[in-house]
Amino acid sequence: MLTRRRHRQTRDDSLSTTYGNRFFTKDLETFRIGEESLPPASVYQIIHDELELDGNPSLNLASFVTTWMEPEAERLVRENIRKNLVDQNEYPRTGEIQHRVVHMLADLFHAPPEADIAGTSTVGSSEAILLGLLAHKKSWQIRRRSAGKPADRPNLVVGGDVHVVWDKFARYFDVEMRTVPLSPGRFTLSVDEAVRRIDENTIAVGAVVGTTFTGQIDPVEELNEAVEKLKREKGWDIPIHIDGASGGLILPFLEPERRWDFRLSRVRSINVSGHKFGLVYPGVGWLVFRDRSDLPDDLVFRVDYLGAEEETYTLNFSSNAAFVIAQYYNFLRLGKKGYRSVMENARANARHLAKKLSVHRMFEPVDEKPALPIVAFRLRGPHAGRESEIASELRKYGWIVPAYTLPPDAENTTLLRVVVRENVSRQMLDDLLEHLDRSLDVLENPPVKRKPHPPLC
Ligand SMILES: Cc1ncc(COP(=O)(O)O)c(C=O)c1O
Repeated sequence: MLTRRRHRQTRDDSLSTTYGNRFFTKDLETFRIGEESLPPASVYQIIHDELELDGNPSLNLASFVTTWMEPEAERLVRENIRKNLVDQNEYPRTGEIQHRVVHMLADLFHAPPEADIAGTSTVGSSEAILLGLLAHKKSWQIRRRSAGKPADRPNLVVGGDVHVVWDKFARYFDVEMRTVPLSPGRFTLSVDEAVRRIDENTIAVGAVVGTTFTGQIDPVEELNEAVEKLKREKGWDIPIHIDGASGGLILPFLEPERRWDFRLSRVRSINVSGHKFGLVYPGVGWLVFRDRSDLPDDLVFRVDYLGAEEETYTLNFSSNAAFVIAQYYNFLRLGKKGYRSVMENARANARHLAKKLSVHRMFEPVDEKPALPIVAFRLRGPHAGRESEIASELRKYGWIVPAYTLPPDAENTTLLRVVVRENVSRQMLDDLLEHLDRSLDVLENPPVKRKPHPPLC
């Protein structure tokens, strides 16, 4: 009897090691919810192990998104991960923190001192851009209708260097997209070309500080002058929305004198990704208006089913509060001095990489001295155009570096891009350079295809 009971106990999965239990050899239901429950340790291990096949976030040089935060910030994230940001009545201090961060950003972006600050956190820059442009579409409709003019053919003027979310806005919200094409040697907005596309139905003009493709900066000051001139000459009241997804939290620290923000009269709204150079894990973004009057009241909903009346201006209702809190942590913890030093390090490393590439016999950077810590580069000489092969070779070492072609009319240019985030050290970049050389070697000396041996008799 005793022996048999022992035997039954050893078959009990709760006593087996994770790898020794029967779930280890069982097919799992992965596209349907299974009928049975499974032990937590086994499920954890199975999912954990599958995810080991993902790329390593630290080596993901394609991503602009933060992959490292301080332990104290992570602690705050863990402590607050259960909070829904929308429950402002239940979590009033969280609501207050969101409010403070919007004010900190408005101040950083030089909102006029008399401004009635308006803005919101979002899941990222995409949501922030959609919301900002929706506000400009609505304001344009209000202006047109009150002047007794038709408001059914809105358009949006941008450069070909904008992120796909701008096209999404145009398609989702029925706005004609008027895109200024790039040219083989110009990868940012041409202001003259933009002006030619603006008319009385233009709801906004977009400009990017830190394009996704090259990290370059649109000529915002020049654009502002041109749009001001149109107002003087034609009376068109056209706002500029700045896509500061990356640059919005770099330029204020690295180039405080550069005027791209609310110091320019036509800049009425700015988005920034907290989860990029705001140094927070995904997903948090921010939208800040120059003044409350830039956000039509119609778009702000008041709800009272969470306990008290609250205002909401987001596309999504619920979102996680933890990353908003982490943003607040970074602003308090680093201050301007800390952000400046992080950005200076990142840019110094980016410039180191760009410099090495500029003297390389086969690579060339788009900018030898990039303004932002983003290095776009390409192959020169006989291998030009084979950038995706380099990207595949680099992947074998673990590096994730994207290769992509530029939008029209620069589609003959293929680039590789490295985003030098806070955690990308000089040593890592030197290792990357070595692996770039080895990848190039494979392109130059492809492995010889040997004839198969004749079968042995
Ligand atoms: C210039 C620019 N705008 C918008 C976005 C979209 O940002 P998010 O991923 O925060 O939604 C990106 C993302 O890389 C970007 O580079």
